[in-house]
Amino acid sequence: MPKVLAALLDRAGIIPAVNQVELHPYFTQPDVQQANAEQGVLTRAWSPMGGITSYRGGVKSTFDDLVIGQIAAEHGKTPAQVMLRWHLQQGRSGIPKSVNPERIAANFDAFDFELSRDQIAAINGLNTGARGGPGPETVTPEAFGRDIPEA
Ligand SMILES: NC(=O)c1ccc[n+]([C@@H]2O[C@H](COP(=O)([O-])OP(=O)(O)OC[C@H]3O[C@@H](n4cnc5c(N)ncnc54)[C@H](OP(=O)(O)O)[C@@H]3O)[C@@H](O)[C@H]2O)c1
Repeated sequence: MPKVLAALLDRAGIIPAVNQVELHPYFTQPDVQQANAEQGVLTRAWSPMGGITSYRGGVKSTFDDLVIGQIAAEHGKTPAQVMLRWHLQQGRSGIPKSVNPERIAANFDAFDFELSRDQIAAINGLNTGARGGPGPETVTPEAFGRDIPEA
């Protein structure tokens, strides 16, 4: 979060190269992206295709989104490739996950097409502002801490 980054930079002598955060079409965190950019920190997306939006069941899946599906059809690409391209064209890195070899290969195939400015804006417009995963403020030693016997 910007306030956490600011607090870190008050103390740290080295600016972090990367800030890895939840970021996909349904949760785009523009304030985080801007704060990172102002400090020269690369924004890296976890759950870059919005996997987190469907893991827990119930919520709408980014893979079935009509806007993303329409853009994918216009380019002859898949929704996954469109979402990965959307990150790349905005200067972010993303770490997609698949256990399926064909999907892993297809997810690399996002370098031979270009989204238009309007298409990028349309995907940015899908932001709901709602996290799929836990907020950083909930990740405390009490909630997530583990003993490390070797330490
Ligand atoms: N730093 C953190 O706090 C944090 C938190 C969460 C996740 N992460 C990391 O972020 C990475 C990705 O996150 P994620 O797994 O939540 O989300 P994701 O990469 O956005 O989505 C993964 C989901 O999409 C499916 N998928 C992958 N490629 C596809 C394709 N081409 N077409 C259709 N479906 C496809 C996968 O299923 P299949 O595997 O069946 O293909 C899986 O269900 C993970 O490696 C994870 O370690 C980091």
